[in-house]
Amino acid sequence: MRMMAPELRRRYLQFFKEKGHAIIPSASLIPQLDPTVLFQSAGMQPLVPYLLGQPHPQGSRLVNVQKCIRTDDIDEVGDTFHLTFFEMLGNWSLGNYWKQEAIAMAMEFLLDPEIGLGLEKSVLHITVFEGDEQVSADEEAADTWEKLGIPRNHIHYLPYKDNWWALGDTGPQGPDTEIFVDIGLQYCEDNCRPGCGCGKFVEIWNLVFMSYNREEDGTLTPLKNKNIDTGMGLERALQVLNQLPSVFETDVFKPIIVKIKEIAQISNPSTDQMHAIRIIADHIRSAAMALADDQGLVPSNVERGYVIRRLLRVAIRRGLQLGIDQFFLGKLVPPVIESLGDEYDELIRNKDHILTEIEKEEKRFRTTVRRGLRIAERTLKEKGELTGKDAFTLFATYGFPVEMTVQIAEENGQQVNLEEFRKEFEQHRQISRDATQQKFTSGLADHSQEVVCLHTATHLLHAALHKFVSSRVYQKGSNITKERLRLDVQLNRKLTPEELEKIETWVNDIIKRDLPISFETMSPEEAQKQRALGFFGEKYGEQVKVYSVGEVSKEICSGPHVSCTGELGEFKITKQKRIGADTLRLRAMLTSQKS
Ligand code: SER
Repeated sequence: MRMMAPELRRRYLQFFKEKGHAIIPSASLIPQLDPTVLFQSAGMQPLVPYLLGQPHPQGSRLVNVQKCIRTDDIDEVGDTFHLTFFEMLGNWSLGNYWKQEAIAMAMEFLLDPEIGLGLEKSVLHITVFEGDEQVSADEEAADTWEKLGIPRNHIHYLPYKDNWWALGDTGPQGPDTEIFVDIGLQYCEDNCRPGCGCGKFVEIWNLVFMSYNREEDGTLTPLKNKNIDTGMGLERALQVLNQLPSVFETDVFKPIIVKIKEIAQISNPSTDQMHAIRIIADHIRSAAMALADDQGLVPSNVERGYVIRRLLRVAIRRGLQLGIDQFFLGKLVPPVIESLGDEYDELIRNKDHILTEIEKEEKRFRTTVRRGLRIAERTLKEKGELTGKDAFTLFATYGFPVEMTVQIAEENGQQVNLEEFRKEFEQHRQISRDATQQKFTSGLADHSQEVVCLHTATHLLHAALHKFVSSRVYQKGSNITKERLRLDVQLNRKLTPEELEKIETWVNDIIKRDLPISFETMSPEEAQKQRALGFFGEKYGEQVKVYSVGEVSKEICSGPHVSCTGELGEFKITKQKRIGADTLRLRAMLTSQKS
């Protein structure tokens, strides 16, 4: 049966509504209950408290379409079915119906051509949990499917790794039964069966029998309620229903793919080109949906902002691979809105924010790439090669992706020693970890975007004090929360109004100039030689990290920082107070900060 996304969403909601389920809206992509989780990665995630026993205001039968972002499989994107952003159709029973009824309803929806999907029974393959030391094989699920007409040779018993579902290490979970559709390709090998990655069997629906809770110590205890949690991937279901080779031919992707091909001027892509086109299409959709969320996320170097940055930068790189050397990501936003805007009006509401941030990020990254290319080519000319260490310096200092260094080397018939690159990378990570243990963490409350922005602002304030007050105003301590920065410096007086004004004006000017921030690792002696600010007299390790803001500030620090000063908003000193004979405490904040 041919079916487009709007009709599939409508049928799913309607079918379960008629079975007594309340339709609930998609929750925000950003989990409200658990700040440590970056994005909603399953339909059940916003419902965890209810799966653990809290009564849901809309009852014990629920259905919805939830927007999700999963980045675990980001490197697989480009094949026929992996995606970072996807929509999950789900129905839930919170201690209401159980296994047999859930399977019977699923079967009806799968087969019914009028109100469901109209699939043939013969293409369905089912997996069930084979059992382990703690929980026995799910014969009840297998028997139920068989009674409903699925032949035994289409029911497969798979182990914990395939047929047990949990969101994380702890929390509500249980065995599941998964529904696969045989899309008619050849068996890739004799033991090809559901779960094989060849693409013959496409998983479209997962029914989880959520009746356990895993505690911190690993023990499994029965939940108060036996719950059902199901999830059907909208894009995969569309692929199967419309008999398409991949999710990228479905109507939710079509306008985006068409636009990418048009920009790249490619009408018959090779396999490699198609791979790149799919990655760009997936990543722009995810980034646009993340930016569309009303929380006003922006690309950055930390947490959610970092995911967005990574998605956009990979998309640009793939664009370069396709020969796209113009700004193009902004042009892909209208087709994303065309395919998803009717369902998610936040895309329309926040269109300006999405476009501005995507275009800004593309500009930044293209500058980084240009600069990196120049330096890599110069190094190659001077030394005749690009070593693993060079690749690391380019990456750490200029943000230049290692894949691009590899590419340049390959174009010159050479190879970059990636082992050496990894060693440098590991060593650098260790330095950062060690440094974080020291006091140079600068008293950051957390690594949220607000705190990281204020941390960079602290470096600018410190540099300004050196410039306008005295080259001896050493930092004595710093403490940063989401709301404000606090910097204690060695000074035996308050600042004059003129000094305050000069400092604020200078810092705001640096912010406006959108200077890049980068770091290098070096010996403490070298840092001192380069006049980096720091706590001299302190004991450092063998190597330190030195952060630079353009040419205006250099400071020993373990980070993290924003990548460009333009991310900061407006800087204002709000208070100054003398504490003790030789210490001045300053407080400052950033207003009109983006997130
Ligand atoms: N939680 C299960 C999944 O995400 C079913 O919804 O696959």
